[in-house]
Amino acid sequence: MSQGDDTVIRNLVLVIAALVIFMLFAIVLAQFLHSKVEPAQASAVVTQRISAVGKVNLKGAASPAKAAATASSAASTSAAALAATDGATVYQTACFACHGTGAAGAPKLGDKSAWTERVKLGLDTLVASAVNGKNAMPPKGGNMSLSEDAIRAAVNHMLRETGLTAN
Ligand code: HEC
Repeated sequence: MSQGDDTVIRNLVLVIAALVIFMLFAIVLAQFLHSKVEPAQASAVVTQRISAVGKVNLKGAASPAKAAATASSAASTSAAALAATDGATVYQTACFACHGTGAAGAPKLGDKSAWTERVKLGLDTLVASAVNGKNAMPPKGGNMSLSEDAIRAAVNHMLRETGLTAN
């Protein structure tokens, strides 16, 4: 064997030793991290992570949210706040694409002059336009799962944000 072969073998041994040390380190680290999470706690965490986003609320069934609302002296105010949030949420998900940007010639939220003439049609007509569609606007903004109430809340939200109200 020549001098060069010796060096190569020595380097190889060094590399393998380094890999083995790294592997042992990884094993110890994995053991350590694993021991940090108790199995019971881990399953609770997983259950929480994979739980449904919403829960079915049957009429008459005890509901923490409902109980809290009833217990609260400002029950009516919180209901109003909830409706407002809903309108905003519907708007963000189903209407913003056009009414936030003016796409397809949609009257923009906040554009008073674009809405003033339309407001005169009355809230019911505006809601009906949004439910059934009008020219470039698809029915329900293209989201057929929305209820008429959700559309109404979104229309109210748009008008309120624009500083207008329709009767
Ligand atoms: C694909 C684009 C688009 C989406 C999405 C959209 N709109 Fe529209 N919307 C329009 C356009 C365009 C008009 C103007 C229609 C016209 O008068 O020609 C309009 C008009 C309206 C009007 C006035 C109707 C009238 O009678 O003058 C209301 C109210 C309205 N939209 C509500 C909504 C609501 C609520 C949503 C969400 C659920 C929504 N829109 C989603 C494009 C859209």
